[in-house]
Amino acid sequence: WGRPYHYYPQLQSTNEILKQMAASLPEGAVVVAEEQTGGKGRRGRSWHSPPGGIWFSLLLRPAVHPLALLSLPLVLSLAALQSLSGFFPELDWALKWPNDILCRGKKLGGVLVEVAAETEQVHWAVVGVGINVNIPFFPPELEGRATSLELCRGKKSCRPYLLAAILKRAEELYSLWCREGFTPLAEDYQALFLYRGRRVRVEEEGRIWEGKAEGVDEKGRLVLRLDDGSLRFLLGGEVTLREV
Ligand code: BTN
Repeated sequence: WGRPYHYYPQLQSTNEILKQMAASLPEGAVVVAEEQTGGKGRRGRSWHSPPGGIWFSLLLRPAVHPLALLSLPLVLSLAALQSLSGFFPELDWALKWPNDILCRGKKLGGVLVEVAAETEQVHWAVVGVGINVNIPFFPPELEGRATSLELCRGKKSCRPYLLAAILKRAEELYSLWCREGFTPLAEDYQALFLYRGRRVRVEEEGRIWEGKAEGVDEKGRLVLRLDDGSLRFLLGGEVTLREV
């Protein structure tokens, strides 16, 4: 991946520019920015993207049913975590379903997937990945929740090495996912899943579900044991998960 590779010193958002260019680019195209002035997070939030992070988007054209795309953020967050933990195994890594990468209990990175699809067919998926690397401090409103590799390691890291490793791992997991779906990845994801066995509250399109997080199933759904003993399977998308 990274063929072609578009690098910009500053952009509004790598997802936005890649969406505009999608029609003329092949699968595997990557847009990287040193800094984003309008970085976007999930649920319409903004994403703090100063120089020093890894901010990139990837163009994919998976031949899958649009519903299967709900597990794509999990695939990319797993790939990013596996590459980062390969470099820095001493740090305490975890995944917060569906798409957050955590280090020492705080958010180090996230994935934002945007899709153009019809009922049965996916035209493209733009997968944006943000990793806080050489970021020495965060604005007060993020301080308690966000972290960076620099804060966790106490020193700077070489971003091109990390980006290359993330792209390589992402390509491997993506081709497996295209062939076999999320099933072969579910166990690895599950092992890193932060809230496994813990009591959580999930907000899904205005509805609130509370129960014990049993894990993540072979479709990438969160399996929640409700207080009445029944199981509820939640899809990613517009969902927020909290421990209670
Ligand atoms: C989240 O956790 O809310 C998702 C964050 C995704 C941020 C990345 S940075 C590169 C790409 N461009 C964007 O505007 N957002 C994503």
